[in-house]
Amino acid sequence: DKNKVVVIGSCSVDFVTYSPRLPKPGETLHGHKFTTSFGGKGANQCVAATKLGANSYIISRLGDDQWGQKYKEYLKEIGVDVTHAAITSNSSTGIAQIAVAENGENQIVIVPGSNNLLCSNDVKEAENLIKSADVIVGQLETPLESTLEAFKLSKGIRILNAAPARKDIDSILPYCSILCINESEASLLADFAVDVSNAPLAINKLLETGCETVIITLGEKGAIFSSKHDKKYFQVFCESVIPVDTTGAGDAFVGALATYLVSHKNYPMHQIVGAACQVATISVTKEGTQNSYPTNFDAFNKQYRYVELE
Ligand code: RIB
Ligand code: NA
Repeated sequence: DKNKVVVIGSCSVDFVTYSPRLPKPGETLHGHKFTTSFGGKGANQCVAATKLGANSYIISRLGDDQWGQKYKEYLKEIGVDVTHAAITSNSSTGIAQIAVAENGENQIVIVPGSNNLLCSNDVKEAENLIKSADVIVGQLETPLESTLEAFKLSKGIRILNAAPARKDIDSILPYCSILCINESEASLLADFAVDVSNAPLAINKLLETGCETVIITLGEKGAIFSSKHDKKYFQVFCESVIPVDTTGAGDAFVGALATYLVSHKNYPMHQIVGAACQVATISVTKEGTQNSYPTNFDAFNKQYRYVELE
């Protein structure tokens, strides 16, 4: 079958509060809304891909608590193949405690729970699936060694979204077709404060580590990318919108990127990156993560503006 997108990664339940601003340390604030929803970077990316028409699969671990089975059923219902979403005895499903402010900013504490138990045996059991995938996508909310093993088995495009930010990921970088990160993740990996002005420097440094392409997402400023075969740096711009909730926008980008790299493989990279930015942009205009991702959306009916950087 076509457009096979396999995500190895986290499923978590998001407990989200909405308040005028984010609390300061030690402060108690009155919020005006609370929601419980399905999240986790792995599942968010997988759902974003599914909604854009990908044939998607998730390799993950859920707990045997009140959430695990519910989460699995929900994923199945929306069309994700959950054959490799395992319910783990005596463990609790990963959770994220999220505070969202009126200006769209957020603060997140995660407790990985069963996500930490995604192991090399899970990868072995999914070996045939991984080998047949057009794209495999990983993040950093599940053990790195398992993602590395999966990347080693893969014959397709390997996308690592190195989020949440973490430093010691050198072992996997040579196996990444695409390393996709935001400014703060790039800052940690490159060892200096990265912004739009010096992103090419950071990309240049990261390309030395072995990955083929690096994409740095810049929120409303779009994204900058380069590949080691041409070392040209491009910035793709995106529409600016009034943000309502930026939670999971990076996941929308990654899920869309994975989908479009296969479904629109003959398009230039700047169009694919622009289309993925467009999906992420739409997501920030609505509350929530997965619920805010567009369905059956045609992101290729326009040309995204881009420039080559010096
Ligand atoms: O990227 C957004 C996700 O990060 C949320 O859904 C939450 O689960 C956190 O892990
Ligand atoms: Na959103």
